[in-house]
Amino acid sequence: MNIGLLGFGVVGRGVYEIVRGREDMRVRKVLCLEDISLPDAEAVKDFSQILEDDSIDTVVEAMGGLHPSYEFVSAALAAGKHVVTSNKALVCTYYDKLLPLAREKGVHLRATAAVGGGIGWLSELERSRRVQKLTEVGGIMNGTCNYILDNMTRFGLGYDEALKQAQSLGYAEANPATDVDGIDTWHKVILSANVAFGVSLEKQSVPVAGIRNITARDVESFAGHGLVCKLISTGKRLGDGFSAYVQPTLVAAGSLEAAVPLNYNLITFLGESSERMSFYGQGAGRYPTAYNVVQDLVDVLGGKGFYAPYGGKAQARNEETMGYYVRGGWDGPVREDWGSGVVTEPVSVDAMHRWLKEHPQAFIAGIRD
Ligand code: HSE
Repeated sequence: MNIGLLGFGVVGRGVYEIVRGREDMRVRKVLCLEDISLPDAEAVKDFSQILEDDSIDTVVEAMGGLHPSYEFVSAALAAGKHVVTSNKALVCTYYDKLLPLAREKGVHLRATAAVGGGIGWLSELERSRRVQKLTEVGGIMNGTCNYILDNMTRFGLGYDEALKQAQSLGYAEANPATDVDGIDTWHKVILSANVAFGVSLEKQSVPVAGIRNITARDVESFAGHGLVCKLISTGKRLGDGFSAYVQPTLVAAGSLEAAVPLNYNLITFLGESSERMSFYGQGAGRYPTAYNVVQDLVDVLGGKGFYAPYGGKAQARNEETMGYYVRGGWDGPVREDWGSGVVTEPVSVDAMHRWLKEHPQAFIAGIRD
């Protein structure tokens, strides 16, 4: 396998280093806008030097962002090259374009590193769906948010202080809004649900609430009720349809989710035969992420394409109800007043997220039974 590597940042460099130790694949060219010199690969600044090189059969996209990643990846697929990427925003946003294109051209597209970093999550969903019907996917998919919430819970830190620490450790995305507003998790759960259920969920039908408005007082109040706040994603089959959403969630202090420390991820699927299976590990970082990119390259060598057939478009409908902790302007029915905020009577997920859009300063957290 001859690889054209797009990007030489955190992930790209890790991929280059791991591939160097292998005999079944070789990085031939690296697209990098900075001046770099590599002992065994040509550094190029123009993507056409990779696209038009017939000796390169596989492109690894590790640039991030939507543009020009989308244009480069589509051009590579259209030219008959396999593509492996770690870019969840790209695959999630252009799912309906990239999958049919790869299929039409008879080439492989894989993105295991896009969800869970070093956890073999999408590839395990692929294996799992061969044997059973998957009914639910989700969990803690963003290390930055987990780090912030864990530090607030364990050490009583304020939100700003905990965010600064996450940034200084390099966990947060360049723009932390992608993490703290739940967008990173949103892309990850949509991609997971698409693979698990064989559909293409309409992004706008999946509501998302992040953690930016949480305060130390909220967290203290949760602890007083034996609860811990985590940013949790959910995607599930519901009747003939699907439900999917991302929101801060209060879980029992003794639960598996509550025990997830620092920037770790805990992702779970439920299947009709396997029942609950959870995966725990590093959801980000150079080598864990590059590890899964190289796993995908080995799978491409073995002839494996995308994880699931391309299903039709589907809308998530979130009519299930739950009690919510709300701080900031709730005037609906209240079950309890916790001082720092109130606990609502059961409200549907869609209704609560519609309410939140009109009250952007509020903080909400679903309460898990
Ligand atoms: N910024 C992400 C996280 C890592 O904190 O989990 C890449 O998905």
